[in-house]
Amino acid sequence: MRRRSLIDDARDPIIKNEANSSNKSVHDILISGSSVTSPATLVDSLKADNVDVLLWESRQAKKGFLSVSDENVSPQHSVDLYIRCRSDRDNLESALSKIRFKNYDIEEISSPASGKKVWFPRHISDLDKCQSLQFNFDPNKDASHPGYSDESYRRRRTEICKLALAYRHGQKIEEVKYTESELKTWKTVYTSLKKDQEKFACAKFLKGMELLQNQCGYSQSEIPQMQKVSEFLFEQTGFQLRPIGGLLSARDFLASLAFKVFQCTQYVRHESSPLHTPEPDCCHELIGHVPMLCDPDFAKFSQEVGLASLGASDDDIEKLSTLYWFTVEFGLCKENGNLKAYGAGLLSASGELKHAMSDIPEHLPLVAEQVAVQTYQDSDYQPVYFVAENFENALLQFRKFYKEHIQRSFHVRYDEHGQRVVTTPELWRFKAKKTSN
Ligand SMILES: [Fe+2]
Repeated sequence: MRRRSLIDDARDPIIKNEANSSNKSVHDILISGSSVTSPATLVDSLKADNVDVLLWESRQAKKGFLSVSDENVSPQHSVDLYIRCRSDRDNLESALSKIRFKNYDIEEISSPASGKKVWFPRHISDLDKCQSLQFNFDPNKDASHPGYSDESYRRRRTEICKLALAYRHGQKIEEVKYTESELKTWKTVYTSLKKDQEKFACAKFLKGMELLQNQCGYSQSEIPQMQKVSEFLFEQTGFQLRPIGGLLSARDFLASLAFKVFQCTQYVRHESSPLHTPEPDCCHELIGHVPMLCDPDFAKFSQEVGLASLGASDDDIEKLSTLYWFTVEFGLCKENGNLKAYGAGLLSASGELKHAMSDIPEHLPLVAEQVAVQTYQDSDYQPVYFVAENFENALLQFRKFYKEHIQRSFHVRYDEHGQRVVTTPELWRFKAKKTSN
């Protein structure tokens, strides 16, 4: 079981307070001025006037967006104070008037109309509720799946999926005792990919694979157990694996990445089709995804896509999952002027890997705005692939894309220690709600 941290303990009263104070309302306040040098004093002043301060943060003032009352003060040295508090209106006005008297600018801010609110996980344990499976490639429902007419395969897959669905945060991941047939399929996949990966994979992937082989038991003769891989991955980049019983909805899958959790299937593809699977299986996840997740830059990129997805609209989830598709699943990059692959969908399937590296498909430079609206194939080879200059550039592009195109009124950051996300208003998208004299 997860031990509670001191931060968790400290936050509990805040959460309970929020739940129990329904007669008061929440206000987001921005205090700015050339002399916001002691935010704690201002917070104490509000508390002394019986305003419940739920959250406060000092932020560097942004000239051109936030008001900097003293133009002689360089913006980079100016600090704004953001406060979220709970209070009734009269009490709040009375408390703020005392601060305003000291020549601070006070702005109450509110989010622009943002449509319906979408639930999203706040703590890593909330991922227990993120199990919306998609059934389009499920062998129990999809006649084109190689295992559709094999009842014993479907029974075995269901058995393994049940273990995943019963999993709860904090538990050890159940071991699966793989059958001879499953081990044979793994061996075929593993050996068939090795040569092509050495030729076409980027350096980060090869380095991750080497680590996994040397320190985590990756080999052609054994399917690594997910718990062991998860512990190893956690030591490398803080990412961990969580078992899932099939193809997850884009929203739930991306949400997990925000918490540095990669949802991972445990069953093996059908033996009749070892080199291709229409749905993710453990060969795809462990061979295709995990080596890249051993790299800190790539792990950071994955988590930022996940954080951007929390509470996003359906349209924005579509854009983010398309971006994910053409980078994490089917991404190419340049290395010393040569084309290399880093996408898991390529590095776990020799056929598409060779196709992607050939002159047949189109190779376009990675431009996040363009990638996010590109149509894609989920049942055939892609006609177009996007090539990143490097991961740093991909991350910068993603951040720019997020800022300019994802319509969300709040910013999310990850509290690594508490394993929870913290939301605050995305200031540049907020409008002044009320300014008193
Ligand atoms: Fe994948």
